[in-house]
Amino acid sequence: MKFNLLTIFPHIFDSYINESILKRAQAKDLITINPVNLRDFATDKHSIIDDTPYGGGPGMIMKVEPLYKAIKDIRSKAKKKHRVVLLSPQGKSFTQKVASDYAKLDEITFVCGRYEGFDARVSEFVDEEVSIGSYVLSGGELPALVVTEAVARLLPGVLGHEHSADDETYSKDLDYIEYPQYTRPEVFEVNGQELKVPEILLSGDHQKIKEWRKNKSSKK
Ligand code: ADE
Repeated sequence: MKFNLLTIFPHIFDSYINESILKRAQAKDLITINPVNLRDFATDKHSIIDDTPYGGGPGMIMKVEPLYKAIKDIRSKAKKKHRVVLLSPQGKSFTQKVASDYAKLDEITFVCGRYEGFDARVSEFVDEEVSIGSYVLSGGELPALVVTEAVARLLPGVLGHEHSADDETYSKDLDYIEYPQYTRPEVFEVNGQELKVPEILLSGDHQKIKEWRKNKSSKK
């Protein structure tokens, strides 16, 4: 699956996408992450991509023409099952269900805004608007990374067999919370208190462990 990240800061992703799961998924050719510099689509020689708002007010607004040109260019080269998603605090909520819908695509483009917002006409050129939560960030770059990771880890082969997304919180339905997990030591002493691993997990009885985990996973 290909992820295009349309932004004025194409290097902002460098560190995160070159570590751990996203790094491995790219090395295995399971995903391609393609930062796209919005300034390459500016319509003037100074590569200006923002301007003051009509009607006055604080801050700068991202201009519609470079966004239109960039999205058009990406669409012209995109694979068949492709969506263009604008990240904004006004969008519909991003959930595990949305992540699994996106994981069925061949390609996805995230439009990352900066400044005080976009020229509202950009919504005519995108397929949907998504928010990662009811708070305001300085741009769509972190939300784009959040969504990229949530989607990439659902793709076959990305987590490998040592991990699995199947038992995770939210993976079965939106109310599902994963059972608690433990590793060594069996007893951890803190402030005179012994915090013990539940005995059943040490029993080797796989049927009992399965039942215990089922009981311990819960509905939110
Ligand atoms: N851009 C700024 N804040 C955002 C949020 N909460 N979700 C998505 N995009 C954003």
